[in-house]
Amino acid sequence: MRYLCLLLPLFLFSEESFISHYEYGEMLYNSPRGVSCEECHGKSGEGKIIVTYQDIHGKEAIKGADIRRKTLDEMLKSVSTYHKVMPRYYLTDKEVEAIYDYLKVKNQKYLDTLDNNQSK
Ligand code: HEC
Repeated sequence: MRYLCLLLPLFLFSEESFISHYEYGEMLYNSPRGVSCEECHGKSGEGKIIVTYQDIHGKEAIKGADIRRKTLDEMLKSVSTYHKVMPRYYLTDKEVEAIYDYLKVKNQKYLDTLDNNQSK
C-alpha cells in the first residue's frame, strides 16, 4: 500500500506532462503568435482551401497543403523559410516539435491505416 502511494504521484505527473505536451502543441498549432496553422492547414493538418477566385483560367483556389505525413525535419524547414503564401515563423525547434507531435497524436488513426496499406 505504501509502495502504491509513492508510485501514484509519479504516474499522475507523467500522465499530466504528456497531456500538457499535447495541449502545448495544440495551442501552438492554433495560434503561433497570431497566424495559426489551422487557418490554412485545417483542424488536423489535412489541408484546406484558403481562398478561391476567378481568373482567365476559370475558378482557381489557393490551398494549404496536407501536412499530416510531413516529417519533423520537413516541418522545421518549412516553418522557418519564406513561401509565397505561408508566413515565415520564428518558433523554436521545441515549439515546432510540439506542433509535430500534436498532429501525430491527433492523426494517429489516419497514419495507422496508411502504415497498414503501404508495405515499406
Ligand atoms: C497563410 C496560410 C498558411 C499558414 C498560416 C501556415 N501555412 Fe503551412 N503552408 C501553406 C501553403 C499554401 C503551403 C504550400 C506551400 C506554399 O506554397 O507555401 C504550406 C506548406 C506547409 C508545409 C509543407 C511544406 C512542404 O515541404 O511541402 C508544412 C510542413 C507546413 N506548411 C506547416 C505549417 C505550420 C506548422 C504552420 C503553423 C506554424 C503553418 N504551416 C502555417 C499555408 C500556410
